[in-house]
Amino acid sequence: MTPPADEQKPCCASRRTFLERAWGVVQVAVVASLLYPLLRFLGYYAPRQPKLIKVYKEPPVGGFVVEHDFILFVGNKGPWAVSRKCTHLGCRLNYKEKEQILLCPCHQSRFTVAGKRISGPARKDLPTFAVTRMAAQEGKGYVVTL
Ligand code: FES
Repeated sequence: MTPPADEQKPCCASRRTFLERAWGVVQVAVVASLLYPLLRFLGYYAPRQPKLIKVYKEPPVGGFVVEHDFILFVGNKGPWAVSRKCTHLGCRLNYKEKEQILLCPCHQSRFTVAGKRISGPARKDLPTFAVTRMAAQEGKGYVVTL
């Protein structure tokens, strides 16, 4: 014995709607569970570890040491290090001791020994790095943190 047709419709329509919605929820959950690890991977950023460079030289006040990535200057107030990477396109800067400037050989950007831009196509100042005196047991010199 089957119930009349008008009594079946609300029951079946409601069940069908429920199943369709449940299937939609399952689909969204599956897509989200697949996309989440991918998006997390794409957005992952590993913080860079500081690089410590030891300079086994102690220039006098007013002196400097040219290294591959930076130039270490020693002044009355202590040492400081300036990057040698030009902020225009990344060429390696040269130090002109007579003029006391850092000069880019590629497009002639000029910077002060403190890293301030003087002229040229570079728009930003040079980065500077922290400098500390080397521990006594390690010898004489400085540690530059890049
Ligand atoms: S790379 Fe230094 S000025 Fe262009």
